Amino acid sequence: MQYEDGKITHELVARCCQEVLPLSGDAAEVGVYRGDSAEVICRELPNDRVFLFDTFAGFPADILDSCEKHFLGAFRDTCFDDVAQRMSAYDNARLVPGVFPATARGLGRVNLKFVHVDADIYLSTLAALWWAWPNLVSGGIMLCDDYLCGSCPGAARAVHQFADLEGIAFETRAKRAIFFKD
Ligand SMILES: C[S@@+](CC[C@H](N)C(=O)[O-])C[C@H]1O[C@@H](n2cnc3c(N)ncnc32)[C@H](O)[C@@H]1O
Repeated sequence: MQYEDGKITHELVARCCQEVLPLSGDAAEVGVYRGDSAEVICRELPNDRVFLFDTFAGFPADILDSCEKHFLGAFRDTCFDDVAQRMSAYDNARLVPGVFPATARGLGRVNLKFVHVDADIYLSTLAALWWAWPNLVSGGIMLCDDYLCGSCPGAARAVHQFADLEGIAFETRAKRAIFFKD
């Protein structure tokens, strides 16, 4: 079941990358873990920088919502060095370790053509959407992975809050939310 879900994510991520391939810009992923979907992005967009944000040590405990306590301790079985080693196969990978969105500040203004938000939890997802949208180029795509995933209610809340406040429509594909920038 988990494998199937990962396969769907990878296919969708690959399709989004193929769609934005002709555009100029960089790509980003918020929520990298061991680098499975990051590898798909780096492979599909070999000529673009791909910023990869994660603590590489699991969720930051202090930003978990009260209904997200089940995530405490999850995704800790990774580490920066291992992911850096794996991603060294891709010249375009740029690992950005630490707690997002503070880590994004160092990058300044970037032009993004694809962003994969796979952070599972409310505050991280909302921060990722808010950071990515103004940096997205025309024609760019923002894919939010956990939208209709039952164990990630915070991600769905963040998607709705962002879309409502910004007045932006989105589509649902395979339980993921996709935002297209005009
Ligand atoms: C579902 S996993 C990502 C899965 C990954 N995309 C893959 O293909 O396997 C979620 C990741 O989000 C990271 N994360 C969530 N909120 C974060 C934040 N505010 N700063 C940095 N990393 C965060 C966690 O550390 C975790 O590794």
